[in-house]
Amino acid sequence: MLSLSSKDVKFGTFKSVLTAVLCSLLFNLRTVSGDLSYTVQEEMKHQHVIGNVANDLGLNVLTLSTRKARIDTEDNSKRYVDINLTGDLIIADTIDREKLCGSRQNCILNYELVLENPLELHRISLQIEDINDNAPKFLKERITFEISESVNKGQRYRLDEAHDSDIGQNGVKGYSLERNDHFVLSVQDNNNGRKYAELVLENELDREQQKDIYLILTAFDGGIPQRSGTAGIHIIVLDANDNIPVFSQPVYKITLLENAPLGTEVVTVSASDADEGANGALTYEFSRISDGAAHLFTIDKQTGQIKVSGHLDYEEERYYEIEAQAIDGPGLASTASIIIDIIDINDNEPRIILKALTDLIPENAMVGTEVAIINVQDKDTGDNRQIRCSVQENIPFKLNPSIKNYFSLVTTSLLDREKDADYNITIIATDGGSPPLSSTMIIHLSISDINDNQPVFEQESYITYIVENNKPGISICSVTARDPDWRQNGTVLYSLVPSMVNSVPVSSFLSINTATGVIHAMKSFDYERFRNFKVQVVARDNGSPPLSSNVTVSVYITDENDNSPQILYPSSDGKSFLTEMVPKASSSGSLVSKVIAVDADSGQNAWLSYQILKATDAGLFTIGLHNGEIRALRDITESDSMKQNLIVSVKDNGHPSLSATCSVYLLISDNPAEGPEFKDRTYEESNSKITFYLIIALVSVSTFFLTFIVLIVAIKFCNRRKPRLLFDGAVAIPSAYLPPNYAEVEGAGTLRSSYNYDGYLTTGSRTSDFKFVTSYNDNTFSGTLKKDPEDSNIINLLDSCNSLEVRQKI
Ligand SMILES: *[C@@H]1O[C@H](CO)[C@@H](O)[C@H](O)[C@H]1NC(C)=O
Ligand SMILES: *[C@@H]1O[C@H](CO)[C@@H](O)[C@H](O)[C@H]1NC(C)=O
Ligand SMILES: *[C@@H]1O[C@H](CO)[C@@H](O)[C@H](O)[C@H]1NC(C)=O
Repeated sequence: MLSLSSKDVKFGTFKSVLTAVLCSLLFNLRTVSGDLSYTVQEEMKHQHVIGNVANDLGLNVLTLSTRKARIDTEDNSKRYVDINLTGDLIIADTIDREKLCGSRQNCILNYELVLENPLELHRISLQIEDINDNAPKFLKERITFEISESVNKGQRYRLDEAHDSDIGQNGVKGYSLERNDHFVLSVQDNNNGRKYAELVLENELDREQQKDIYLILTAFDGGIPQRSGTAGIHIIVLDANDNIPVFSQPVYKITLLENAPLGTEVVTVSASDADEGANGALTYEFSRISDGAAHLFTIDKQTGQIKVSGHLDYEEERYYEIEAQAIDGPGLASTASIIIDIIDINDNEPRIILKALTDLIPENAMVGTEVAIINVQDKDTGDNRQIRCSVQENIPFKLNPSIKNYFSLVTTSLLDREKDADYNITIIATDGGSPPLSSTMIIHLSISDINDNQPVFEQESYITYIVENNKPGISICSVTARDPDWRQNGTVLYSLVPSMVNSVPVSSFLSINTATGVIHAMKSFDYERFRNFKVQVVARDNGSPPLSSNVTVSVYITDENDNSPQILYPSSDGKSFLTEMVPKASSSGSLVSKVIAVDADSGQNAWLSYQILKATDAGLFTIGLHNGEIRALRDITESDSMKQNLIVSVKDNGHPSLSATCSVYLLISDNPAEGPEFKDRTYEESNSKITFYLIIALVSVSTFFLTFIVLIVAIKFCNRRKPRLLFDGAVAIPSAYLPPNYAEVEGAGTLRSSYNYDGYLTTGSRTSDFKFVTSYNDNTFSGTLKKDPEDSNIINLLDSCNSLEVRQKI
């Protein structure tokens, strides 16, 4: 069978007519009811005339309706064509080739033309021609790929085919891809002749640059006009760990105060990693850190924050260089340097170091003597280590700056241990920081003693009084000298300056306790012998050389009433024959006699008073209370007894008072010859022998008295050459018949060389123990003294002049 197909519908009709004719003529003229074949394009409109069946079959158009011409399907399926009254085969319903035939190449619909009366049956085949009414279409509008950025060039990814319902030329002819940087399209034929496309990676991917790539894939057919369909390609670029972490700065420079507290943030290092996920998850750590710094700084693994975790000290380390690294998940790392400069804070107080110390300096050290060397240090820098040094005021020391941070402590004036024996010198060092820090040091300095003070007595001179007849050995006074020096330089030892008192060494009178300065009497003193003396006491310290000073001690011996009055005239031995002649014509008040008495004591003890104890005629005579003058109380008359006898008592004024008595014989007569014959009635009983002795005694006394007067003159004359031989005339030894001078207090004492005494000596030790050394002569005194043969006569005389019972008390 010959069939023609044409794209042109009009020519098609014509051709089909020709074909029908030719077929009828050439092959099967007998098939009157032969087949008609038409070609029509799909999608023709309703009533579109495909061909004229009547003409093609040679049928009379007029009979068509009468013969009930109609089109039937063989299988009663849907009819798309119909025949009209003019015999035209027309489109009755829109034909969709793709629906009817799908992808079959030939799409022929078979119909039958049925005529009745007579029944005729003609086959009509209708070939449906494709038109490009369908565009290529992808199954999925969006194609998604996940491609790692690390994929190499040339990698291919097959794409879904597009589908076009049309066939032949109208089917999918090719693909195209939107221009892009990474992919090209490679179109391939598959084994059933269809085309498919592959994405080919032409340039490598970089997720960090572009992580999503959107492309449009177009499929086009070969129809005219051409139709096309698109699909979106979404390429998700998967990350590969192809980026190392990068720090925000290669070097972090930080300054940090050294007193930064724990937890202070130093810096936060941060790095970035272009990768994502684990590939870009960074952790931080120190990659290089010194041991010292490792204790001071910590880094937060996650945040990169570096904090202070220890005590920073500029003085230990001023500069830290640390390396930190950032590591991503798979382990790519990079590092950055962190340079930390520590800034000094004035946190170190100055240190004072004592380099040398003379801890004991003598008080005579010269001004400017160096006593200590100190060194000051401060670990801070700059102004913080500029140190000023000073010592407190009001001490005789100062600091002299010496070479570089050294100071010497020197004295600024003379020292005096006795004023300040030690010093606590406070050295203050202050640095120049703000606020400044300071520290102090106390140097204890002792001043050593020099024996520069002599002992000084508390008094300029000492006067002491001692009552005579003292017990030997008693202390009479004490002297004290002070010496402020130290120990032996201030230890005072007392001693007497050797001297002579009336040719006797003073040491026989007094002794002094070396240590205490208590002065003891060595013997019993007798005021009547001498009344005062002076002695020098030396106080000497124990230094070397020793210093000393001396003081005068005046010793005054005070009187005790130890002497009773001594009657010089008349002799009071009771055996005196001496009588006083009283003229008969004596009138009242006339002086008839005088009792002369002396008292070796002085003052009140020697103030004598006279009293008539007993008289022959009580009213005839009176005696002067203090002068001892016996006067007539009335005119003497013839009737008065010729012999008058008075007993006179002489009393001193001491307490208790001592007294002596004597008898005075008065002969009232004008004839002296009567005198010797006179015999007192009271003595008439005495034998003539006693009277004779009395006369001898009286004569001797008178003789001696005269001799005595001569001697006094002689001695006075001699005293100019030998003044100490005897006493002064002013003593209570009468040079004339005069009453004693009781007012006398002062005066050079007299010492008898033969004076017995008790001797005591100190042992010389400082313990004040005394030893009784020399013998004590108990039967000290007798009426006579024997020692000095030359003077013995005189002394005997003197003693006999004094009362006989004197001294018994000694
Ligand atoms: C010095 O200090 C010592 C001990 O603190 C103290 O005993 C002494 O009295 C002080 N001396 C002076 C002179 O202040
Ligand atoms: C006493 O003074 C002397 C110098 O005069 C001195 O050498 C000595 O050390 C001093 N003695 C004492 C105990 O201080
Ligand atoms: C006593 O002191 C004086 C001056 O104070 C001095 O001249 C004299 O020599 C001293 N005498 C003795 C014995 O030390």
